[in-house]
Amino acid sequence: PFPWYAHMRKHQPIWQEQASTWHVFRHDDVLRVLSDYEHFSSQRGEANDPNRPISSSLISMDPPRHRQLRTLVSQAFTPRAIANLTARIEEISNSLLDDFQGQTHLDIVESLTYPLPVIVIAELLGVPSDERDRFKMWSDAVIAGSRQLASGEVLSFEDAQMEMVQYFSQLVAERKKTPKADLISDLLRVKVDGESLSMAEILGFCVLLLVAGNETTTNLLSNALYTLHEIPSLWPYLAEQPDERLAAFVEEVLRFRAPIQHMYRTTTCDVELSGVPVPAGSRMVAWIGSANRDEAVYEQPETFQVNRKSRHLAFGHGIHFCLGAPLARLEAELALKQLLRRYTSIAIPDVDASEPVPTSLVYGFHKMEVQLTPLP
Ligand code: HEM
Repeated sequence: PFPWYAHMRKHQPIWQEQASTWHVFRHDDVLRVLSDYEHFSSQRGEANDPNRPISSSLISMDPPRHRQLRTLVSQAFTPRAIANLTARIEEISNSLLDDFQGQTHLDIVESLTYPLPVIVIAELLGVPSDERDRFKMWSDAVIAGSRQLASGEVLSFEDAQMEMVQYFSQLVAERKKTPKADLISDLLRVKVDGESLSMAEILGFCVLLLVAGNETTTNLLSNALYTLHEIPSLWPYLAEQPDERLAAFVEEVLRFRAPIQHMYRTTTCDVELSGVPVPAGSRMVAWIGSANRDEAVYEQPETFQVNRKSRHLAFGHGIHFCLGAPLARLEAELALKQLLRRYTSIAIPDVDASEPVPTSLVYGFHKMEVQLTPLP
């Protein structure tokens, strides 16, 4: 998509595709669309419909309710709670790496980048590990709009949401009776100004975590590994001082290959965006992937520079800034660190055999056959 973005930034930075759909490509316009919630609403569908948990969750909500809800869930989902997961994430990724120890050719998505985030979120929510496959299927169905099952049946977006709602309703009811040391129990407990979360809101948040936190993190990690294949000198560079160098590397991967390429908004009234009048009720497509390569903001945007200090929009901006960003960064850094410890290089012998995710929303891989060279 990157040459298209460059073309659009130059020639049609605000592009009216159809009567009511507008695409936005330049950094400053994308930033405004993402953060100016008074003019660009995140509201989607009917809020407060228990059968549509994503429409009633944080990411599809505007202030003032967004502010209240975000304050509440932030009490349970704190950066400290996430930092406390370090040891456990290390354990999980170590054991995934142990499972393919000795194998030098493998699909790294299947073996590492796909299972890691789903195990972490399932544990965070207190979901038994044998439910993991169902979990993954639901989140894939919601992101892709539907999901073909092994049986050949297709699981629709609506059905996946329904199944998740049923599943989590039961889990939340159990935790209400008998709290445990997990996020759902914490969510049931939090209070701000005497107010707590409703069942529907807890449900919405669980489903959102599942959907927002899985494929995104998988793709961050896959994109990082793809980059290490593309620029082989990075592996020894990072292996030399992983603690000092990995964080900046991960940030540049996020800029260069953002796992989420665009987000939607709807205009609440007639708006002017960089001089272009956009009518009320328009659907806005804010291209994060393009903003991250805008030559007006980044020097040589089309080259990967591991020491770039600039910020990026991969986690969004403003009030909806990704709540899971510290978790995604932590998972990526820990998994990469362990790979750097065990191997000396990664290569993708047949790039054409990789399967990029086939949507314009998500940038990453469904399958990536790699060759790993173990330490001598
Ligand atoms: C919001 C990207 C990982 C939970 C967002 C937004 C983006 C994003 C772009 C803003 C949406 C908007 O403005 O409409 C990513 C990427 C990830 C990632 C690229 C991985 C590399 C995670 C993880 C979790 C998570 C691991 C949780 C476990 C959320 C939540 C929101 C959000 C709850 C909504 C926040 C709000 O509306 O206030 N994410 N995300 N994300 N993300 Fe992430």
